[in-house]
Amino acid sequence: MSMKIDLSNQNILVTGATRGIGRAIAEQLAEAGARVAVHYHQSRETAEQLVNKLENGSLPFQADLSEAEEVLQLFREVVDKFGRIDALVNNAGIAISADVESDDKAFIHSWSKTMSVNLHATGLLSKKAINHFQETGGGRIVSISSRAAFRGDTSDFLAYAASKGGVVALTRSIARAYGKQNIKAFTVAPGFTRTDMAEDFIEKYGEEYVKNDIALASLTQPQDIAPTVAFLLSGLADHATGATIDINAGSYVH
Ligand SMILES: NC(=O)c1ccc[n+]([C@@H]2O[C@H](COP(=O)([O-])OP(=O)(O)OC[C@H]3O[C@@H](n4cnc5c(N)ncnc54)[C@H](OP(=O)(O)O)[C@@H]3O)[C@@H](O)[C@H]2O)c1
Repeated sequence: MSMKIDLSNQNILVTGATRGIGRAIAEQLAEAGARVAVHYHQSRETAEQLVNKLENGSLPFQADLSEAEEVLQLFREVVDKFGRIDALVNNAGIAISADVESDDKAFIHSWSKTMSVNLHATGLLSKKAINHFQETGGGRIVSISSRAAFRGDTSDFLAYAASKGGVVALTRSIARAYGKQNIKAFTVAPGFTRTDMAEDFIEKYGEEYVKNDIALASLTQPQDIAPTVAFLLSGLADHATGATIDINAGSYVH
């Protein structure tokens, strides 16, 4: 089999594609030939600029993924515009801090909002993708989890780590349950990666704290994550279905 990563026959929905890891993924997939449904929440202008730059029929789609109705509408709109979806990248995610010292209301808000975007939307979009793939003959799902799913997180991000653990179990279940229907599912678990989300954490804990966790000299960038996603969606790694790929600058060997 040729090792060329060619996604030119694929329409791929990438959630949270305006910034950070999602943007790098959208750019990488388009570079490999895919037509990308660039999902955004608030960054409309950025999404529009990105699809203009990609110049390959990619289109922007808006949805607040904390609202189930909007999740369903997003999937419907992409199918309407693209006709067919070949792959889904569940990337959009949030991290709302609240530790056990927080008042109950703030803690509940952090849990429900984090779960709704990181886990509920991922589950619902995966359901819609599976329904669609059952009609089209198959497809692939990559979901972005986190190192936090495996080693836990700091005291203020309990909900975040729990949501990301859910993503891993969801992916494995999809791989087991739907493999015979030509549906493959993978998890990518980044460690600390330089994005807007990470800046909040760096501000609070400092860059040295973060660097102390990793084996490599420099912090992971979104561009260090994106090529693996293109590879997983290429068909060259289908027998790794159900797997989690850690991309964490050697956190576990450090
Ligand atoms: N950065 C890290 O260190 C790190 C480590 C491990 C895993 N991850 C995971 O990687 C993924 C991407 O993270 P990132 O650091 O690239 O994030 P980011 O730079 O903060 O970007 C977040 C993206 O999610 C979208 N989004 C936020 N809230 C949303 C909502 N309610 N509904 C729909 N979309 C929403 C944003 O859209 P708008 O711009 O339109 O608002 C944006 O595109 C997340 O799942 C994150 O948990 C990140």
